Amino acid sequence: MWGILWQRSELRPARPSPEDRAGTGAAHLVAGPSASRPGGFESPVARSGPARQQRKTYLKILVAITGASGALYAQRLLDNLDPAAHEIAVVFSNYARVVIQQELPEGLRLPAGAREYNLKSMSAPFASGSNAPDAMVIIPCSMGTLGRIAHGYSEDLLLRAADVVLKEKKRLILVPRETPLNLVQVKNFELLLLAGATILPANPSFYNRPQTVQAVVDSVVARVLDHLGIKQQLLPRWGQEPE
Ligand SMILES: Cc1cc2nc3c(=O)[nH]c(=O)nc-3n(C[C@H](O)[C@H](O)[C@H](O)COP(=O)(O)O)c2cc1C
Repeated sequence: MWGILWQRSELRPARPSPEDRAGTGAAHLVAGPSASRPGGFESPVARSGPARQQRKTYLKILVAITGASGALYAQRLLDNLDPAAHEIAVVFSNYARVVIQQELPEGLRLPAGAREYNLKSMSAPFASGSNAPDAMVIIPCSMGTLGRIAHGYSEDLLLRAADVVLKEKKRLILVPRETPLNLVQVKNFELLLLAGATILPANPSFYNRPQTVQAVVDSVVARVLDHLGIKQQLLPRWGQEPE
């Protein structure tokens, strides 16, 4: 089902600028078969048509992946976001590539129709408050990235997008894995909570008796989807029979 994404010309933006071409050294990526559909937040009408945009459930979602451990969380989130139903953009920090290579030897699969943006490009739509995503999920979120967002650094696309999402009062969901925590990190959590972010630590639950690593991971991803407002059936809700 999944093919090699990298070097597929059809994945480039409709009007690419040189710095827009994402992912120098992105050998960590693989993608789905219909990745040919161009997309991104630039031209949602052209891409998806007005009917889709009118749906109340339609969201522009930016998934940011950093160099924290837990690339599988990012993978499972992407596996459960439907680019036919939502606009899905992806950005990687530099260290994300290192951790992905370590943790996902076969690479990270982008869903067909999702679009990757270059970390160094500020011409991506969501670098501006005028075209903010409805939600941004940083999964997994390193302490470095979390600290930089808490203190207003905005030097690359990932950090700028987080800044934009906070200032535009959109949903910013951070999924840190770090343990234990030092006081600096806890204070950064506090700053981000005060600024309106959601901190959703990658703390799996076990009351559903997960039998596989994926099921453990999904117990976290299910909560992320809940906070995005996206229907999920990864995890039965406590007190409810599975559908
Ligand atoms: C295999 C591996 C696992 C790591 N896990 C974490 C982690 O769980 N949390 C964290 O904050 N940093 C972790 N790091 C360190 C970050 O990658 C490092 O601090 C990096 O500067 C983060 O950069 P970024 O925030 O731009 O992704 C890990 C590094 C490696 C190589």
